[in-house]
Order: sequence, then structure tokens, then C-alpha cells
Amino acid sequence: MRLQRALCSGLLAMLLAASAQHALAGPNLENGRQAYRKCVACHSLEKDAHRTGPSLFGLWNRKAGTADGFGRYSGALKSSGIRWNEEALDRWLENPQQMVPGNRMVFPGIEDGSERKDLIAFLKAATAQDGKPSATLGMREQKPLNLKGLGENNQVTSIAHCEDTFEITTAAGETHQFWEFNVRLKSDTSENGPYPGKPVIIPAGMRGDRVSVVFAGPAEISPFIQNRCEK
Ligand code: HEC
Repeated sequence: MRLQRALCSGLLAMLLAASAQHALAGPNLENGRQAYRKCVACHSLEKDAHRTGPSLFGLWNRKAGTADGFGRYSGALKSSGIRWNEEALDRWLENPQQMVPGNRMVFPGIEDGSERKDLIAFLKAATAQDGKPSATLGMREQKPLNLKGLGENNQVTSIAHCEDTFEITTAAGETHQFWEFNVRLKSDTSENGPYPGKPVIIPAGMRGDRVSVVFAGPAEISPFIQNRCEK
């Protein structure tokens, strides 16, 4: 009995110690890195690599709305007067629309305060000018695909459209048919985009039934597509 009680209280003491240690432990960078996955569709950590949202490179202590070369900031964010530090980011990530009404970040916010704390610690380490480069945090950035370097299978030589079908022929001599709704016509005017007049086709889904055709600019798209219905 006594032994049992002693064991019990010993176990309790260990549990308490463990949870106290957890509470005292600082933010968890690994959890922060996981939480950052919620952001990668729209943000990169590389300089000038803007996506839907601005690159977060050099974010720490930067004034809101000032990333060089990002042209889609809202007036609301630009005139907010915010400087990005722990406190500001905590409010922003909890509820962006409440902090800056009318901003353009379509993100509901993160309710869990400790997740925000971990994420903010990760962002600080990854974006402070004097912080470690993001590579050492184990963040593998996806480099944008350079569309000039693709092979014959991806180079589109002609596109014909008839009824609800796109017929796309590649430099490899193959012709593929797609339901028109599964074909996305895009432009990439960046340095990674295709050569003018040389659109490329890239798969856009697991089943091979969806593709993107990327052009060097929007003006090329319509003239490239032949309206042809063979009977
Ligand atoms: C759906 C796309 C999207 C997602 C997801 C998203 N953001 Fe954003 N973010 C944006 C856009 C767009 C802006 C610019 C908003 C504006 O100008 O009103 C922005 C702005 C920001 C800014 C201000 C940057 C500056 O230069 O002032 C920060 C900081 C930020 N986002 C952090 C995050 C973090 C951290 C996450 C993940 C938890 C996240 N965002 C998720 C699209 C997104």
C-alpha cells in the first residue's frame, strides 16, 4: 500500500515535472515549420519570389506593404502603419480581417495561440535579416519550374478546339485530347516562363486528364488556338 502510494506520487511528480517543462519550453520551431505549410501556397521565403501573396523574405521588422516588386497589395495594408514583429504577427495571424479590414489575404486565421507562437518563432528565424538562412531550418523551397528547359513532350506545336474538346499536339509528334474544362490556359511572363510563341503543356492532376498550357504572355493565347472541327 505504502509502496503503491509512493510509486503513485513519484509518477505524479514526474508527470508534473514533464508538463512544467513543456510549459516553460520556448516556442517549438519544428511545429512552427509544420504550421507554415498553411502559408506556402501563397508565400515563399525567397527574395522577390512573389506568389499570390508577397515574398516573406526579410519580413522581420519590415513595414507592412513594402516588399519590393509585389504589385497586389491592398491600400488597406499599405496604409496600416504596421511593422511586423511578434505582437503584430500574432494579431494578424489570429484574424487578418479584424486587424486590417479590407486587406486581400484570403485566410481565416489560426485560432490556437500556441500554434501561432510556434509559427511566429519560425517566421522570425527564417526572415530576420540577421537570422539563419531558411535552408538551415530544413525548409525546402520549391523552386519554380523553368518552362524554357522542358523537352519535346512538353512543347506544344498546335492546339485545335472543336465543340468541347481541345486537341493538343506536342513537338514529340503526339496528339492528346482533353475535355475543354480540364485545360487551363495560363501565361507566365516571368523569366521562368516559356519562350515567346512556344507554349508548353504541363500535367495538372494525378489522373493525367488535366493539364495547363502555359504561354509567354496573354496575347498569344487566342491566336494560337485553331478553331477546327473535322467531320
Ligand atoms: C490564399 C493566399 C494566402 C495565404 C494562404 C496566406 N497569405 Fe499571407 N498574404 C496574402 C496576400 C494576398 C497578402 C497581401 C494582402 C494585402 O495586401 O492586403 C498577404 C500578406 C501577408 C503578410 C504581410 C506581408 C507584407 O509584406 O506586409 C504577412 C506577414 C503574411 N501574409 C503572412 C502569412 C502567413 C504566416 C500565412 C500562413 C499562416 C499566410 N500569410 C497565408 C495571401 C495569403
